[in-house]
Amino acid sequence: MASPKIFVTRLIPDAGLNLLKEAYPNSQNLEIWLQEDPPTREQLLQYVRGAEGLLCLLTERVDAELLDAIGPSLKVVSSMSVGMDHIDLPEATRRGIPVGNTPGVLTAATADQAFALLLSAARRIPEAERFVRAGKWVTWSPSLLLGADFVGRTLGIVGFGRIGQAVAKRAQGFDMRVLYHDRSSEPAHGAQPVELDALLAESDFVSIHVPLTQGTQHMVDADFLSRMKSNAVLVNTSRGGVVDQDALYVALKSKRIFAAALDVTDPEPLPADSPLLELENCIVVPHLGSASKWTRDQMSLLAVQNLIAGLKGERLPHCANPDVYPA
Ligand code: DGY
Repeated sequence: MASPKIFVTRLIPDAGLNLLKEAYPNSQNLEIWLQEDPPTREQLLQYVRGAEGLLCLLTERVDAELLDAIGPSLKVVSSMSVGMDHIDLPEATRRGIPVGNTPGVLTAATADQAFALLLSAARRIPEAERFVRAGKWVTWSPSLLLGADFVGRTLGIVGFGRIGQAVAKRAQGFDMRVLYHDRSSEPAHGAQPVELDALLAESDFVSIHVPLTQGTQHMVDADFLSRMKSNAVLVNTSRGGVVDQDALYVALKSKRIFAAALDVTDPEPLPADSPLLELENCIVVPHLGSASKWTRDQMSLLAVQNLIAGLKGERLPHCANPDVYPA
């Protein structure tokens, strides 16, 4: 039997790649995009034609146009990501295409990143490092680069799924009080459920952990920011589109809030001339939430396991649109 045509949109870690090559040894039909830059939209539309399996990243928009370009051969889409906002899931479901994702394995790494950003923004680490490199360090001073405290302060977590809960667990070690807002999650790790208004009014740190949907697009807007405390630090490791960056710029520039740390932006990459990058009290890093060796290996393995299962016509181990299967 001929091996299925597979298109992989970028070089993935060896862990997943080796599994894929073991499953389809000597396959002439396995095509991997090896260039450093991702395929352009035009290239993607061209290269995916006739694929039975598509393994993509969060950088590829999988919509009706792309599914049309692939054609009726398609059996499975597998994304090496937990977030699914780049994929039109209802459209895939309508066409009977299961879509795989990689939940669970990136929970700890992303929570670590959220906490690292929280600490960095609160204790002004990047700003202090720039200060030293610029030769401005003259002496120890009682008032030099003072930041925020953690013990007894309140952390507000918006979105209390796996990652939000892992952030709450880390906050326990810092002796923080933890509030969360999420109507569908039970309390865990000592965190107390509250309405969003109360969370914003009481939190010294606000960490965002909601998926990007129509309902959460620009959820962090001027009104949201105006309800935060003036000493508050905002951290976003979810999706850039959840934050209205123009409103955030105004809030940071006017010191309406103390600081922000963004792992994700809209767009990505954030243009080098973005006004946010002019601000001392804003940290921006290039979407590194899951960027640890073990985590990326596991993500690649899950993505390949989903792909292989879909190609064999088996149920995906991690399916983001389970409605695709008969009840
Ligand atoms: C995901 O998998 O959705 C994450 O954003 C990757 O870091």
